[in-house]
Amino acid sequence: MIVEPRLVEYLNALECELPPHLANLEKYAKDHEVPIIRKEAQSLLRFLVETKQPKKILEVGTAIGFSASFLCEYMPKDCKITTIEKVPMRIVEAEKNLAALKRKDDVKLIIGDAGEVLKNLREAGNTYDFVFMDAAKGQYMAFLEDILPMLEEGAVFVTDNVLQEGSIMESKFTIERRDRTIHMRMRDYLYELKHNPYLTTSIVAVGDGMSLSVKHERN
Ligand SMILES: C[S@@+](CC[C@H](N)C(=O)[O-])C[C@H]1O[C@@H](n2cnc3c(N)ncnc32)[C@H](O)[C@@H]1O
Repeated sequence: MIVEPRLVEYLNALECELPPHLANLEKYAKDHEVPIIRKEAQSLLRFLVETKQPKKILEVGTAIGFSASFLCEYMPKDCKITTIEKVPMRIVEAEKNLAALKRKDDVKLIIGDAGEVLKNLREAGNTYDFVFMDAAKGQYMAFLEDILPMLEEGAVFVTDNVLQEGSIMESKFTIERRDRTIHMRMRDYLYELKHNPYLTTSIVAVGDGMSLSVKHERN
């Protein structure tokens, strides 16, 4: 944990209970070791969605559909979500969970590798006003190439797990050799988010680190 664990525990204890269907999904994820957004990230994501009031959400990395169901619970009535997942075992669970939602018609699961799916969505001229990226960390930079042109003016773009349990601040020489590529790629990604002329980005130590960007005209 990046933040003092007792503080996180205290803050999480302040959270209100999730609606039963989300609490059940969260429990399933915990019992089956499926990585889903942490409590702290949930709270921030909810705040962002309720502030932004998006109409078109894109999520990269569905897993079993917890965060898509979560976003669906708090997004405006006229909002739709498209979410992408490639792992068959996860897709089976996600399809079942998303089909059980009251607003199931507002959620579309696209099966496939996000690299390819994002390209197709971009080429088809899709645009979004809220994007949540929570997939393979090493591919974030590649995904950004297709996501950026799809962000509408004023769109909110959130990425999860950007601080890698704090190891992001360490020199690459202290990182285990097998983790070095991902470490360097994440650093490049964060640099890009902070220096891209179309984005204003804040990186916050919430959960495992989240980047919060807004798209605007070129600086
Ligand atoms: C951290 S989990 C997502 C958790 C989910 N957002 C939640 O909070 O409920 C990341 C997911 O991204 C998927 N993923 C990773 N790389 C992907 C890719 N290239 N294309 C599609 N899905 C991918 C993984 O299979 C995994 O289920």
